[in-house]
Amino acid sequence: MHTQTTQQRAAARLHINLKLERWHRRCVYASLALLLASGAAWLVARYWLRQAGQFGETVHPLEPWSMKLHGAAVMLTLFFLGSLMNAHIRRALKAGRNLATGWGMIITMLFLIATGFGLYYLAGESDRPVWSALHWVVGLATGALFVLHIVLGRRTNPHRPH
Ligand code: HEM
Ligand code: HEM
Repeated sequence: MHTQTTQQRAAARLHINLKLERWHRRCVYASLALLLASGAAWLVARYWLRQAGQFGETVHPLEPWSMKLHGAAVMLTLFFLGSLMNAHIRRALKAGRNLATGWGMIITMLFLIATGFGLYYLAGESDRPVWSALHWVVGLATGALFVLHIVLGRRTNPHRPH
């Protein structure tokens, strides 16, 4: 039987191919983009487009529509996150590549799921602003983290032309 040295094992781990197939990568990009865009659209409608009317503030139609879109984007995103579990996340953790932003992605996604759940099922009138701010501040930052994750991840790929 062939026994591997620590060095050979490390080299083998480095060569696990973690690049996603094109259709899969595009689906992940599209669902995350829709998630971010719908969240941002709600923020614009809520904080910039409300107008003072005769009976108090009037809600802009974009506000409820952007949340419906957000709900749809959430469902798509969770579906594709599930699809990455084995194909990407588990194998990438084993390969030990891109660990910092990889764990960052896992933790931020779990945080967004938890605070999204909180907004939908737990938040009451008084504590809603806290859930809301925690959720969207981290949500907006996720866009930057995702870009960083991909740029740094590609640099660790020994097969990619640089
Ligand atoms: C997997 C990630 C995410 C999940 C599971 C999630 C889930 C949710 C849920 C369940 C709601 C409540 C909807 C409602 O009350 O009708 C919500 C609201 C919201 N989400 Fe997300 N979301 C995620 C990512 C994001 C991102 C990336 C942003 C970026 C800006 C964002 C921004 C918002 C905003 C602004 C609201 C409205 C907050 C409020 O009602 O005060 N979310 N999200
Ligand atoms: C929520 C979790 C995650 C998401 C949504 C995600 C998403 C992605 C996407 C879309 C890419 C670009 C793939 C390509 O260019 O084909 C990528 C690259 C990469 N990710 Fe993740 N990832 C996640 C978690 C992780 C974790 C936990 C690790 C490792 C510890 C990791 C390591 C990598 C590496 C090494 C690359 C570069 C792949 C290459 O080009 O060789 N990712 N990630």
